[in-house]
Amino acid sequence: MATTRIPAADVPPGSVTGVGDHAVGNNGEYFAVGRRCRHLRADLAEGSIDEQGCLVCPWHAAAYDVTTGAMVRGPQGGFAKVPGLDAFYRALTRAWPLHRGGVTVDGEDLVVE
Ligand code: FES
Repeated sequence: MATTRIPAADVPPGSVTGVGDHAVGNNGEYFAVGRRCRHLRADLAEGSIDEQGCLVCPWHAAAYDVTTGAMVRGPQGGFAKVPGLDAFYRALTRAWPLHRGGVTVDGEDLVVE
C-alpha cells in the first residue's frame, strides 16, 4: 500500500486537505478517508469539519462520521426536501462507507496510507 508523508503543520485543527485519494483532516485527531462524496462525488478534501467533528461535503453539506465512513446527515439544500434521500444515503454509506485510511504521526510529519 502506498504511503505519503506530509508535514503535520499542513493539517492544523479544523482543516482538511487532499493527499492522493484521501481527504486528510484534523478534528482533534488526524483522519484519512476516501475523498469522493457518495452523493455526487464532490471532493471532500475541499470540505470542512463541523462542531461534531464530522467531515462536511463542500457541495451539498452532507456530513460524514470519519471514524466509520458513514454519512450521518444527507445532502442539504434542495436535496433535503427529497423524501427518503437522507435515509437512503445514510443506509447506503453504512453498507458502503468511505474508505478509511491510516494516519500516523512521525515526528513533524503525518504518514498517510
Ligand atoms: S456531492 Fe456531497 S453532498 Fe452532494
